[in-house]
Amino acid sequence: MEEKKRHSFGGSIGFVLAAAGSAVGLGNIWRFPYLAAKDGGGLFLVVYIILALTFGYTLLTTEIAIGRKTKQSPLTAYTKLHDKWGFLGAIASIIPVIIMPYYCTIGGWVVKYFFVFLTGHGADAAQDGFFTGFITSQWEPIITFVIFLAVSAFIVFRGVNKGIESTSKIIMPILLVMILGIAIFSLTLKNTNDAGEVVTGLQGFKIYIVPNFEGLTIGKLFTVLIDALGQLFFSLSVAMGIMITYGSYVKDDANLGKSINQIEIFDTVVAFLAGAMIIPAVYAFMGTEGMSSGPSLMFVSLPKVFAAMGVAGNIIGTIFFAMVLFAAITSAVSVMEAVVSCIMDAFHTSRTKAGTIEGIFALIVGIIVCLGYNKLYFEFKLPNGSTAQILDIMDYISNNLLMPIVALATCILVGWVIKPKTVIEEVEKSGCKMGRKRLYTAMVKVIAPIFLILLLLQTLGIMKL
Ligand code: PHE
Repeated sequence: MEEKKRHSFGGSIGFVLAAAGSAVGLGNIWRFPYLAAKDGGGLFLVVYIILALTFGYTLLTTEIAIGRKTKQSPLTAYTKLHDKWGFLGAIASIIPVIIMPYYCTIGGWVVKYFFVFLTGHGADAAQDGFFTGFITSQWEPIITFVIFLAVSAFIVFRGVNKGIESTSKIIMPILLVMILGIAIFSLTLKNTNDAGEVVTGLQGFKIYIVPNFEGLTIGKLFTVLIDALGQLFFSLSVAMGIMITYGSYVKDDANLGKSINQIEIFDTVVAFLAGAMIIPAVYAFMGTEGMSSGPSLMFVSLPKVFAAMGVAGNIIGTIFFAMVLFAAITSAVSVMEAVVSCIMDAFHTSRTKAGTIEGIFALIVGIIVCLGYNKLYFEFKLPNGSTAQILDIMDYISNNLLMPIVALATCILVGWVIKPKTVIEEVEKSGCKMGRKRLYTAMVKVIAPIFLILLLLQTLGIMKL
């Protein structure tokens, strides 16, 4: 009876694009390029790709297979796998509840920038202090947050097929074309800097892809490894119940192995293109200095780059932020869907009721997050040494703390308790062969847990790099 009511994706393409929609988000476009710039360009790329094919592949396969096998939301999926492991479902389900409000707050910032460029005011966004002025104002961030949340909620209310699948099928191909277009444009850029030298986007591209071994030490290599690991985790939307939720909507005859590869390729290609789009442009207009701007890259440095392009800057800026919006919305939808599916399963309630509960919760907490830069401003020191506001604290708890714990526990459960063959059999259920089986087994049992422990030690500030 319950099984009958459960929605499912209409086809493999819909599933792949919806899952890629979840994976491709702010992480790919905003976080990946600044990490690549910080960690020696090509060196980071190589490490990231190797980890994606091993570590990322393992976690993604595990979660999607758990979802399809149990046909449950993350809250109940773990209990179905093993009756003593239900607690893990509870922890995993809390993560998207925490993420939703602050992810939508950042989504709201993107809404703001999109409108600024659309209305031809890109030059304002290039002024010093524009970003801080905006996020510390009282109402504007709340309004843009509510717009972003409303759009995401609307898609979730429409359901798995009509909402998530059909939106992803339209948005994801457009996103790919847009990012490819801007990346090509970025490579053709030329600028004369203050010293009178002509700097090209192509030179920036070289810095991006050629590994920089200068001053490379074991310690530095380790930093690159940990950065790439953390990024991969965030980027693939694993360890927060999302891929279990989406996996539970996949039909039993779908070729899981092939879909998983396609999702990974999509996510990695978009991350690579985001770097190819942003790094050459920032390099041409701001030199290496601009590239080391870290998290402020998207909201502070890029608007300056667009402003330096003159009239074209407003157009490119509008396309750019529209694309970021697309990427962020499909991710927010997946976060909300994970929560909604848990509420539906736990209380046997309708999608509309579950969506309303989560929507109202996210609305209230999101407003608190926005006010964290205004009325509720305070400074908090995190164990890793950085100063945080409400948004950063929530990000730290979910991303740095709970996600590695959930991933580690999941690997132990699959590797040692229910055994890797449970996942392998699920992938091969429809008659397709799962590639890299030995690699998968070694990863899930031993190597991934070691990586995850290192990541945890680092974020807890126990192991300093
Ligand atoms: N994977 C998304 C990205 O790369 C981020 C994300 C975070 C998605 C949290 C869902 C939940 O931006």
